[in-house]
Amino acid sequence: MSAPPPKSSQLDPAWEVPAHIAIIMDGNGRWARQRNLPRLAGHRAGTENLRRVIRACAEFGVRYLTIYAFSTENWARPREEVEGLMEIMREFIDRELDELDAEGVQIRHVGKLEGVRPELQAKVREAIERTRGNQRLVLNVAFNYGGRDEIVRAVRLIVQEGIPAEEITEETIADRLYTAGVPDPDLVIRTSGEVRTSNFLLWQSAYAEWYFTPVFWPDFGREHLLEAIADYNRRERRFGRVLDPDE
Ligand code: FPP
Repeated sequence: MSAPPPKSSQLDPAWEVPAHIAIIMDGNGRWARQRNLPRLAGHRAGTENLRRVIRACAEFGVRYLTIYAFSTENWARPREEVEGLMEIMREFIDRELDELDAEGVQIRHVGKLEGVRPELQAKVREAIERTRGNQRLVLNVAFNYGGRDEIVRAVRLIVQEGIPAEEITEETIADRLYTAGVPDPDLVIRTSGEVRTSNFLLWQSAYAEWYFTPVFWPDFGREHLLEAIADYNRRERRFGRVLDPDE
């Protein structure tokens, strides 16, 4: 699918930049198929693109970027693809960690490490440790992540802690999600024309603005991100309220 023409190449100073953008990076497989390439070539192109989008977010002043890298459901893909994605993740950390660290990116993991190869677990932990003090952009990598799984885990923790039912608030749950301490996303982007949430940030995206674009993830560049931010600025966020009761 071809990209819609970008409308602007600069951030308008009047715009509000979403503090937290979350992205479902979809369409790698179709991008590869269009080029008669194996699916993994699409994931590699998607990973290259991720570098560009992380940098664009830092440039625009986005404070939190959450990316859906591997879902709890993705284990059901063919073994070769799962292995390939794990390898791509390992290479990404090896290749990018120094630069991301130098650019002030703090890497966090959203999801569970159980079931992930010990060598990769160690790499993820190293990336988190190395970048812990960085402040420019928090990059939450949703890896082995599922929104329902996350909520089940939070409920289990609440029960294990013996918190009485009447004391449970929204905060009690939010504090036990993988994203504890991270503000909810303001804007969730899904590429590739699919229009569904696919178990991503179910709790956290309750009041997010959703932006769907037909562009496949490897082609989603800085200009498309700008267009998503422009579109976000055309929305009126009401959080369930009436903004002007006389209108
Ligand atoms: C969805 O495309 C994409 C994924 C399941 C994986 C996303 C992973 C990356 C971009 C690279 C790894 C991430 C990091 C952090 C290094 P799809 O395969 O479902 O595409 P399709 O719907 O066209 O088949």
